[in-house]
Amino acid sequence: MIPAIDFAAPTRYASLPPRASERFARPRVRPAPRGEQVRTEDGRELVLRMIEPGDVAAMQRCFTRLSPEDIRRRFLHAMSELPTPMAQRLCRIDSKLETAYVLMDESIKPAEMRGVGRIYVDEATDSAEFSVLVEHDWSRRGLGALLMRHLVEDCRRRGLAELWGYVLLENRPMLQLCKELGFAQRMLPDEPGTAQITLKL
Ligand SMILES: CC(C)(COP(=O)(O)OP(=O)(O)OC[C@H]1O[C@@H](n2cnc3c(N)ncnc32)[C@H](O)[C@@H]1OP(=O)(O)O)[C@@H](O)C(=O)NCCC(=O)NCCS
Repeated sequence: MIPAIDFAAPTRYASLPPRASERFARPRVRPAPRGEQVRTEDGRELVLRMIEPGDVAAMQRCFTRLSPEDIRRRFLHAMSELPTPMAQRLCRIDSKLETAYVLMDESIKPAEMRGVGRIYVDEATDSAEFSVLVEHDWSRRGLGALLMRHLVEDCRRRGLAELWGYVLLENRPMLQLCKELGFAQRMLPDEPGTAQITLKL
């Protein structure tokens, strides 16, 4: 039997506007991932990204985990603390003349800084001075080399002629790392314990 047609039934349904709670809801914006994921051979994960002004507390916590020897090798003199104005200055960079990469351990909260590599451009000499640091428990995993390679690439992008840094002669790890990256070493007559290492770009 053919079913009877119900002429009263609607053929199209008008779409209703979304509920007020949806119309006025804030769009759900997922934060864009910052930086790139780095995985060490022993399976530890870090994020490599540019330093940010909000990194001050993480940088100061990182400083408290450094040995006096690491501090002397990085800053070329002893320091008992990293004063807040200095940490703020190190985290708020002038991107025209500076680049600073950080390696952040985001597996814990708050995220911890495990390494920093930075350059300061000297426009007068068309060169940049670098510094690099990797927290001791994270060393010998290729992270120092990774930071240095990024700094070299950054200097090339800027079209600089030279990347250089001061390294204490006792700092065998850094001298070895720089040798492997092709830096040349020269003694400083006025600074007997320090070498200047330079990479022509
Ligand atoms: C120097 C420093 C940045 C090296 O960082 P790192 O992450 O351990 O370095 P890497 O793991 O990338 O090592 C790269 C190469 O450097 C050399 N190297 C690093 N540490 C070394 C060590 N303790 N002894 C000998 N060679 C070492 C090796 O050739 C190594 O390659 P390999 O591991 O394949 O043998 C880190 O020890 C550090 O932060 N020291 C204190 C601060 C400092 O000295 N900064 C430099 C002056 S600005």
